[in-house]
Amino acid sequence: MGIVEEVGPSVKNLKKGDRVVVPFPIACGQCFFCNHGASPHCENSNYENYGPSGNVADEKGAGLFGYTDLYGGYSGGQAEYVRVPYADISPRIVPDEMTDEQVLFLSDIFPTGWSAIDWAQLKGGEVVAIFGSGPVGLMAQKAAWINGASRVIAIDPLNYRLEKAKKVNKVDTLNPHEVDVVQAIRDMTGGRGADVCVDAVGFEPERNILDKIKATINFEKGSMKVLDMAFEAVRRSGTVSIVGVYGSPYDNFPMFRIFDKGLTIKQGQAPVLNYVDKLFDLVKQDKVVLDDIITHTLPLSEVANGYKIFDNKEDDCVKVVLKP
Ligand SMILES: NC(=O)c1ccc[n+]([C@@H]2O[C@H](COP(=O)([O-])OP(=O)(O)OC[C@H]3O[C@@H](n4cnc5c(N)ncnc54)[C@H](O)[C@@H]3O)[C@@H](O)[C@H]2O)c1
Repeated sequence: MGIVEEVGPSVKNLKKGDRVVVPFPIACGQCFFCNHGASPHCENSNYENYGPSGNVADEKGAGLFGYTDLYGGYSGGQAEYVRVPYADISPRIVPDEMTDEQVLFLSDIFPTGWSAIDWAQLKGGEVVAIFGSGPVGLMAQKAAWINGASRVIAIDPLNYRLEKAKKVNKVDTLNPHEVDVVQAIRDMTGGRGADVCVDAVGFEPERNILDKIKATINFEKGSMKVLDMAFEAVRRSGTVSIVGVYGSPYDNFPMFRIFDKGLTIKQGQAPVLNYVDKLFDLVKQDKVVLDDIITHTLPLSEVANGYKIFDNKEDDCVKVVLKP
């Protein structure tokens, strides 16, 4: 997010001085996918590497800020200035009375956590188990409560993150170092399993030496062990939402379990544009607080240190906010 310094000649909705929050997928607002609520698949924002296949190294989706060249090679927002293409489509103007911190996470992690829950279409009363209690998992926990869950279970090997989840989101917690997570979830749900499981970890979970050997032999990047656990822990006919990122093929994909249990699976980059206005209103109306997950605020000049603290999980780090 930031303050508009300059606008291109076609921009109608923004002017110099507006403070805006900018969703991370870059969307033209006019193509087939933008018109079908699927802005992370915009056909016009990734000039070099867009395509229908979604291969490992080409034919990817829409442009994304601060991602790889495969997604358009756009510079990210952790900078003094950022160029925002199609600026009439995505940015949302922030009213003066709201702080940066209140709305910052509308650009990415709150709509991402929201997507995971929205994809599962809760009717009310569901048990939702969320693997990963980092920023995205914490936001999914908030979304689960707002959408009517009766119980929210956070799973993470880091106790300080579980403590944070308990404190800000009043969830139950499970640490895979301390309990058999799948069995514990079944015990909490009359033996059936959770109605919804969310993978908010992706291909980079904590890994042991066996996980690493398996990945090397199979030419896999990271591991899908968390997803495997989600498929086991969800109840028959339940839903698994995957917002954690995966970028390579994985052998032994448990198709048998998915078929036998009749699971619904939904995944991908979050369609932020579908939700941003509704979520903005929730924040404005004090129906959700997002900035309670911030643990560190640093000047942009200390960005390298911010990444180090976050990567190494130092100083109970959950979320770093950088101030230019
Ligand atoms: N789909 C999207 O649009 C979208 C948007 C933003 C982020 N993401 C992705 O979401 C994922 C999470 O992002 P984040 O910022 O919260 O990252 P993070 O690394 O802070 O959080 C991941 C958490 O998973 C925990 N974890 C590791 N192994 C685990 C295991 N075996 N079981 C349970 N938890 C385990 C870690 O301790 C950590 O707390 C990443 O893959 C990120 O790229 C996706």
